Amino acid sequence: MPQPVTALGLTTGHAPFVEEARHRGELYIEQAYNLYSPENHDSWRRLYQRMQPRWERYANDHFLKGIEALDLSPDRVPRLADINRRLLPLTGFQAKPVSGYVPGFLFFDCLRRREFPTTITIRPADRMDYLPEPDIFHDVAGHVPMHTERAFADTLVRFGDCAHTAVEITASVRDPKERARRLTNIIKAMSRFFWFTVEFGLMRGPRGACAYGSGLLSSYGELEHAIQSAEVQRYPVQLEWLINQGAEIDHYQPLLFIVDSFDHLFELVDQLERWMRAGKLDNVAPGLPEIAESDLRSFLDAPVPA
Ligand SMILES: [Fe+2]
Repeated sequence: MPQPVTALGLTTGHAPFVEEARHRGELYIEQAYNLYSPENHDSWRRLYQRMQPRWERYANDHFLKGIEALDLSPDRVPRLADINRRLLPLTGFQAKPVSGYVPGFLFFDCLRRREFPTTITIRPADRMDYLPEPDIFHDVAGHVPMHTERAFADTLVRFGDCAHTAVEITASVRDPKERARRLTNIIKAMSRFFWFTVEFGLMRGPRGACAYGSGLLSSYGELEHAIQSAEVQRYPVQLEWLINQGAEIDHYQPLLFIVDSFDHLFELVDQLERWMRAGKLDNVAPGLPEIAESDLRSFLDAPVPA
């Protein structure tokens, strides 16, 4: 006999509520808070408690202030409605629950509207250390505290603008194959930029380099490794590197880039857009990430800005 959905909770890979929404083609969903099981809340508590001392040592100050401003619970999976009530007056950002992967253009377009697509499931208790797909701990404890910071939030919005620019500047390319080729390169450049900054970025600070990238801030092992390990190469950020360096996903990052401030990061996104308009992103270095058909399609199908 099948188990009732409430007994299964909202565990990544085992969440009928989310899988059924996906099956119905619904991308934007409710958090369905009552479905979290005691094990789900326990996973959050364990993840949060072991991260806390590492955040204090290795996270940038804006992140630590963000955790406080959102009043994130150490004990229970947070309600997105509570977070959003605190976040809205700070930067206008909102965490928006989704059923799964959001194709590239739609994702960046959400950022432009100050909405952050947020996973609601949490990793299984026996997989605390590594999960290839995002979960609510990565999205809410790793990303959302950064959205309380004005310059960082504005940077995400500018990133969303870049996706619109990509559609606009390639719309006049007559040959569909050539348009797809250029967009594939531009999406690769944008994905790498996002990866090496929003996901794995370091920022110079009074205590030395600290993490602001959410992939680091939600990983117990990698956060310390990123700051302390002699094996990691850490360089002052340069746009040439951000767009041409392959992004490797299934091991600790061997190469990280340091920004001076979030105003600096904002300027880099401006520069990214200028380079895009100048055609400099049409031929970036081959390599990871592979651009999925659904990501390319989302750009090809996007309305051309007037
Ligand atoms: Fe992420």
